Amino acid sequence: MVSRRGFLTGLALAPVAYAAGCSIRSSTPRATRPLPIPPLAPSTVGADGVRRFTLRAQAGITEMVRGRQTPTWGYSGSVLGPTVRARRAEQVAFTITNDLPEPTSVHWHGMHLPAKYDGGPHQMIAPGAVWAPEWTIQQQAATLWYHPHPHGATEKHVHRGLSGFFLIDDEAGDALDLPKDYGVDDIPLVIQDRRFTAIGTLDESDITDVGLLGDTIITNGIAGAHLSVGTERVRLRILNGSSGRLYNLAFDDRRTFQLIATDGGLLPKPAALEQVQLSPGERVEVVVTLSAGENVTLRSLPITDRRGIDRAAEFGFDDTLDILTLRATDRVRPSAALPAALVPMRALAAASTPPTRAFDLQWFMINNQRMDMNRIDMTIPVDTTEVWTVRNRDNWPHNFHVHDVQFQILAVDGNPPPPALSGWKDTIYTTPETVYTLAMHFADHTDPTYPYMYHCHLLHHEDQGMMGQFLVLAPGQHPAPMPMDTTAQPGMGHH
Ligand code: C2O
Ligand code: CU
Ligand code: CU
Repeated sequence: MVSRRGFLTGLALAPVAYAAGCSIRSSTPRATRPLPIPPLAPSTVGADGVRRFTLRAQAGITEMVRGRQTPTWGYSGSVLGPTVRARRAEQVAFTITNDLPEPTSVHWHGMHLPAKYDGGPHQMIAPGAVWAPEWTIQQQAATLWYHPHPHGATEKHVHRGLSGFFLIDDEAGDALDLPKDYGVDDIPLVIQDRRFTAIGTLDESDITDVGLLGDTIITNGIAGAHLSVGTERVRLRILNGSSGRLYNLAFDDRRTFQLIATDGGLLPKPAALEQVQLSPGERVEVVVTLSAGENVTLRSLPITDRRGIDRAAEFGFDDTLDILTLRATDRVRPSAALPAALVPMRALAAASTPPTRAFDLQWFMINNQRMDMNRIDMTIPVDTTEVWTVRNRDNWPHNFHVHDVQFQILAVDGNPPPPALSGWKDTIYTTPETVYTLAMHFADHTDPTYPYMYHCHLLHHEDQGMMGQFLVLAPGQHPAPMPMDTTAQPGMGHH
């Protein structure tokens, strides 16, 4: 007689066939594994009150697909990184060692912090070197993330596995009765797509016009994951950590879920949705309700918003992909009902405010220019609120990410934004020929030397130069950038 365990083992050892072709239908192996939960990064708080973390960028081997040993890169582990967690008003400090064979950097995506610690292409860490940024957390509770930002090589570094979550807590968030037991009913979920070569290495060939597009979904570092849920409600903090793929997330039975947060933190109130789209770099927090014993699959459906996109199939817009199966246990612990109100948001500007600047996205350019490490594209006076309009003038998908700030979306083609765009954001998907009006406040952190970046977060586009730089200046301060030898930058040779 074959035991259940033996049966499962047999299944796991059988070769798994992956669907290929232009329209991918589910690539989930039949035998799933439990979703890995990134460990919380250890930290120490000294007498000075500073919370100190240590991270090491390193190479390793990961069983991303069961039975295959894949060389990967990770922070303090073989792939991804530990979840960094700190509180608003807390001072944090990092000791980051680069044990990789090439220069990298660590950028704190979504964080408001001094430009010299932003971890962009001006803060490279040489192999064997250590970088020690520190700053005070000055923003509301949110799901942020950290990842490399070496100019011309960001896609490669992230694709090999370097990215981690950075969770900020605050009193307003603590006071709300939301699922908040990390790894139990509060789950970080990074969604990535990968292709593997016949010998099981990550396939870095065949870069499409949206970058590396995979046929295998990897959640928290592995393919074919499931999550056992022992509570009535579960909160998923979802990050699109892919190079160029968009996800249109829904559950297989189309149940509604509650959207509670976007990139920069909790919404004013939960919004009931059946689908939510995430472009690379964007995050959402959703709460889904489960009944005892049920199985429900989080899935990415074909992208419905494809206005102005010319080769939707080639960009993965037709694909249906299973992301994660949620399996409720036979008994689930009751959860509190969701609060009707979350965190209020005061409007930074009226929708009718005339724009300060306009950005056109096309090919690998922003406003007809490709990134130059030695060119400051704009300077912004400190303590100002600016209104930016952003337009995708292309027939490719693009998005728009701004460092240093979280922005509000005042309008989409002059109309009020839908729920998924009505909270704090640092990255926004741009449908072709649609005008997005954003408002943001540049509160402090002036620096005449180190710029912040703004760019398309499709990593191949960013690497190809779809990025610009700005300085935040104090009154009377003049730009004094540090000349960079850009020929020494990794990946800069392949333009
Ligand atoms: Cu997540 Cu400038 O990047
Ligand atoms: Cu960023
Ligand atoms: Cu782009």
